[in-house]
Order: sequence, then structure tokens, then C-alpha cells
Amino acid sequence: MEVVVAAVAWALSAVCGSFPPSNTLGLCGGKPIESLLRGKLSAGAQIYLSGSDGYAKATNRWSVLDAPTTNIVVVPSVANDVSEIVKVANSMNVPYLAVNGGHGAITTVGKMKGGIEIWMDSLNSVKLSKDGKTATFGGGILSKAVTDSLWTLGKQTVTGGCECTSLLGPGLGGGHGFMQGRHGLIADQFVSMDIVLASGKLQTFNASSDLWWALQGAGHNFGIVTAVTSKVYDIEHPDWAYVSFLYTGDKVEALYRSINKYLLQDGAQPVHIINYSFFFNDPSLDPHKPVIMFYILQEGASAVDTVYTQPFIDIGPLMTNAAGGSYKDLPEWTGNANDSPPCQKSGLVNIRFPIDLQVYNVQAQRKVYDLFASATQETPALNGSLFLFEGYSTQGVKKVPHRSTAYPNRPANLLVAPLLTYPPGGKKLDRTAAKLGESLRTILYEASGLKEKYTYVNYAFGDETKQNWYGYESWRQDRLKALKHKYDPLGKFSYYAPIA
Ligand SMILES: Cc1cc2nc3c(=O)[nH]c(=O)nc-3n(C[C@H](O)[C@H](O)[C@H](O)COP(=O)(O)OP(=O)(O)OC[C@H]3O[C@@H](n4cnc5c(N)ncnc54)[C@H](O)[C@@H]3O)c2cc1C
Ligand SMILES: *[C@@H]1O[C@H](CO)[C@@H](O)[C@H](O)[C@H]1NC(C)=O
Ligand SMILES: *[C@@H]1O[C@H](CO)[C@@H](O)[C@H](O)[C@H]1NC(C)=O
Ligand SMILES: *[C@@H]1O[C@H](CO)[C@@H](O)[C@H](O)[C@H]1NC(C)=O
Repeated sequence: MEVVVAAVAWALSAVCGSFPPSNTLGLCGGKPIESLLRGKLSAGAQIYLSGSDGYAKATNRWSVLDAPTTNIVVVPSVANDVSEIVKVANSMNVPYLAVNGGHGAITTVGKMKGGIEIWMDSLNSVKLSKDGKTATFGGGILSKAVTDSLWTLGKQTVTGGCECTSLLGPGLGGGHGFMQGRHGLIADQFVSMDIVLASGKLQTFNASSDLWWALQGAGHNFGIVTAVTSKVYDIEHPDWAYVSFLYTGDKVEALYRSINKYLLQDGAQPVHIINYSFFFNDPSLDPHKPVIMFYILQEGASAVDTVYTQPFIDIGPLMTNAAGGSYKDLPEWTGNANDSPPCQKSGLVNIRFPIDLQVYNVQAQRKVYDLFASATQETPALNGSLFLFEGYSTQGVKKVPHRSTAYPNRPANLLVAPLLTYPPGGKKLDRTAAKLGESLRTILYEASGLKEKYTYVNYAFGDETKQNWYGYESWRQDRLKALKHKYDPLGKFSYYAPIA
């Protein structure tokens, strides 16, 4: 059967005047593989060729640096379509990559050249189980669809904080979100998954399988998830509130000292409190230096308690804002809604240089502020950049035994990352940006006193080590490598933070 497919591909490549067959996609604009797939896919599946609106929408990415190159987009409408695509692609020796929300920015994905994009967009179903304790989601569902559909059923689960990323893009690498203090990471909610493996076989996995451990933290490496069943919860605290403070740069020390003291509380941050800050440039607020936006989010309240806000009022913000509402307002408040800037795909480079921290080192915060300030002045192309400091509550994450999943750094308190944003402007600017990103995280790492440098895989730039992404313990690396060898020996799923 595979021989027949290969022979057809060969014949088609001759028609297109090109060979070997693996080159036919590029030279024939995806036509040969289109003909091969047509008869195998379900009626609802779509194929987009370059030049069409569908193709443009499906291949538009949040970050354009080292983006994968695609010659054809296939949009499966049932799980079996994914199997068929993988089998045809294997037989033609053409690479493929699952794409979901299109926000995966790690530069390793750029190694996919002239491949098939499997756009998961149509696999977006939601089904609550009879007992109401789990729900099964299509493998292409986005965060907002998860939250909104569960909400109408009186349920919720952990998703990323951003409406426009998928459930599985973040979840396969752990997945941080507003509900993690209660329930753990996105990956901690998984109960079972239907996965198309590198062979094209569709198989159901759960905690009884040897692969399960790896799917919770290193899951991008093993297959394409067509459906996931996750734990869901009754909505206990629909109401949330936020307060935001805007400070000028002279307040760096006072702010991060107070966050350590009043919010982090040696890792015992209250479960109903989340904090979040970032440096950014806004010449109308300060023409020479970045300003600092700091948010406190509180669950189960219509206004953030003054016990949390007073120390930050005392620092002397330039301005403050506050509102009460529901859980569903959080993305809008924090600037992560579908219509907020981070959700736009506007042809920019967006690269992050993450580092996990336990506590803010106040002197190091000053140093990175100063460097961020001077570098974004010296290189105006970078002046739309942000420096993010995310302080989610962590109880639910820490409650899960550290060795029990591939997610490597449960003890972390803070997720910190410069996000360098700029219009693509050539190799020199790319080098300047990457050097700045590395310098900023090196300052924080060196000041942290930590022996191990963890760089959250879903924020990673792409030049980090496997230890930085997946953990320093040799048993972790060995176990991941053995599973990779067993389930994906040819490295078909080795574009997003590859283990091997
Ligand atoms: C604005 C913004 C906000 C973010 N907020 C958060 C956050 O709150 N929490 C957090 O943890 N992370 C967050 N992230 C990081 C996020 O986890 C990664 O960017 C992630 O890769 C996005 O997934 P995606 O589906 O949008 O991207 P895609 O590029 O579509 O997917 C990323 C990779 O995931 C794999 N993949 C996707 N779907 C499947 C599938 N069904 N089966 C198998 N593999 C699959 C593929 O390898 C793909 O290359 C955020 C990123 C951005 C840009
Ligand atoms: C996994 O699925 C199998 C088959 O349905 C079932 O027998 C087993 O109990 C499940 N294991 C777990 C841990 O849920
Ligand atoms: C901010 O979040 C960190 C990380 O969880 C926490 O340690 C700190 O107490 C929080 N601060 C506030 C003000 O919530
Ligand atoms: C960035 O630099 C440009 C050019 O100097 C300037 O016009 C713009 O206002 C700056 N933007 C920010 C956010 O600092």
C-alpha cells in the first residue's frame, strides 16, 4: 500500500517535472499530495494550497522568526483524517507539524521546511461526561472555547491565560493558568488522550500507559492529540477582581521588595491571589524610561482586599485602575483577550527568554530594568518589547508529586521572561535582540543563586539545552529518550523543543 502511494507520488513528481518525490511539494505547490489525500480524507476535511485565504489564515503565526515553511495545509475534520495525513506524508517522506493557535514561537519549529501543516482548527468539540467530572475536547480547541463552553454548564478547568492559544499547545508542555493555584497545571487535568503516533496509528492513552508520564510536560514530542479528556470542576468562585498600578522606573526596588514581602510570602502566596507585572515603554507616560505595570488579581472578591493593595498604594503609583467582574474577564483585564495586542498576528518577531525563579532579587530587578531601558532606547526597533514577571499561585502545581510527570520544575514560584518584539529587520537586529534576551535572563539567573536554570518549554527561545527544558535529573532525560525511541524513532515529532 505504501509502495503504491510512493509510486503514485513518483509519477506525480514526474508530471510536475521534479524529483525526488520529497521535493514535489515545493515545486508543484502541494498538488501531488493533494491528489493523494483527496480520496482518503473525510468529506469535512479541507485542503488549502498556497495563495488561498484559508492557507493564509492557517499559516499566519504570532512570531515570524524561524517560522516553519509549509507547502500545503490540511484541516482534518475527524481523528482518522490525521492518521491518513501522517501515513501519506510518511510514504512521501514529507515532514509535517500540527498547528493549533499558531502561537508556538520556539525557533526549533523553523527546522520544518516544505512540510504539511496539519491545522487542528476543526477538531474543536466539547463533551461533558455523565458524571460531570471530566470533559472531552477536540485536539484543536482554543482556551476561550474551553472556558466559554464549560461556563454555560457551570464548570471550569485550567487553561492558559490567553484566549487565543490552544488547550494542547500549552498543556503538552505543562501549561500555566489562572486556575493552577487550585488545580495544578493544564497537563495535571489530563485523564486520557487519543493520539496519532508517528506510524499513523490512532491510539488511546491514559495513566496506565508508559507514555503517559511524558505526555504531561514533553508531550509535543510524541504524536498528534486528536482528543483529550480532562478534569473539570464546578465553578466555586465565579467572581474575580483586579487592581493595577503603574509605576515609574524609580520604584523598581520598592515594588519588587513589596511583592516578595506581601505577596510571595516565601512561596506561600495565598491561593486566591495572582500577581503579574511587566516593564514596557510608553513615551506618553515617561518619555525616557520604561514604566512598570503591576497587577493583583483576586479570586472570590468584587474588589481586591486593601490588605493586599495598601503596600502598593504606599509606593506611590503614577495611576491605578481596578474593577470587579467574573473569571471570564481576566484575559481582557490582563491584556490577553482575542482583541488584545498579544493575540494579534501582525507579522512581528516575538521571542522570549524565560527563566523560572523562586523570589525577586531586588538588585537584579534594578539591573534588568536599567538594561531593558538602555537597550530599548539604543535600538528603537525593540521599543515595543515587554519584560514579563508572572506570579501565579502555585499550591495546585506543587501538590502534584515532582517525579510523577515530565514537567520538570514544580517548585518554581515565578515565571519570568523578556518578550522582545520587533518588525523583521534582518540578521543584525535578530542578533541584537537575542543577545539582549540572553543578557537579561543571565542577570536574573546569576543573581538567583539557583544551581539549575529552568526555561519553561512553551516560552523557550530555542537555543536552550534539553536540561533547561526537561530537567537536570539524568533519569528524566533517559526516560524521555527511551520513550522517544520507542514511539517516534524517526523523529517525526521533533520540531517543537525536541528531546531527540
Ligand atoms: C499571547 C500568549 C499568551 C500565552 N499565555 C500562556 C499561558 O497563559 N500559559 C502557558 O502555559 N503558556 C502561554 N503561552 C505560551 C504557549 O504555551 C505557547 O506559545 C504554545 O506553543 C501555544 O500553543 P498554540 O496552540 O497557540 O501554538 P501552535 O504553534 O499552534 O502549537 C505549538 C506546538 O504545539 C504542538 N501541538 C499543537 N497542537 C497539538 C496537538 N493537538 N497535538 C500534538 N501537538 C500539538 C505542535 O508541536 C506545535 O508546534 C502564551 C503564548 C502567547 C503568545
Ligand atoms: C486506562 O484505560 C484502560 C482501558 O480503557 C482501563 O482499563 C484502565 O483502567 C485505564 N487506566 C487508568 C489509570 O485510568
Ligand atoms: C506574586 O506571585 C509570587 C509567585 O507566586 C508570589 O510569591 C508573591 O507572593 C506574589 N505577590 C503578590 C503581591 O501577589
Ligand atoms: C519607538 O521608537 C520610535 C522611533 O524612535 C518612536 O516613534 C516610538 O514612539 C517609540 N515607541 C515607544 C513605545 O517607545
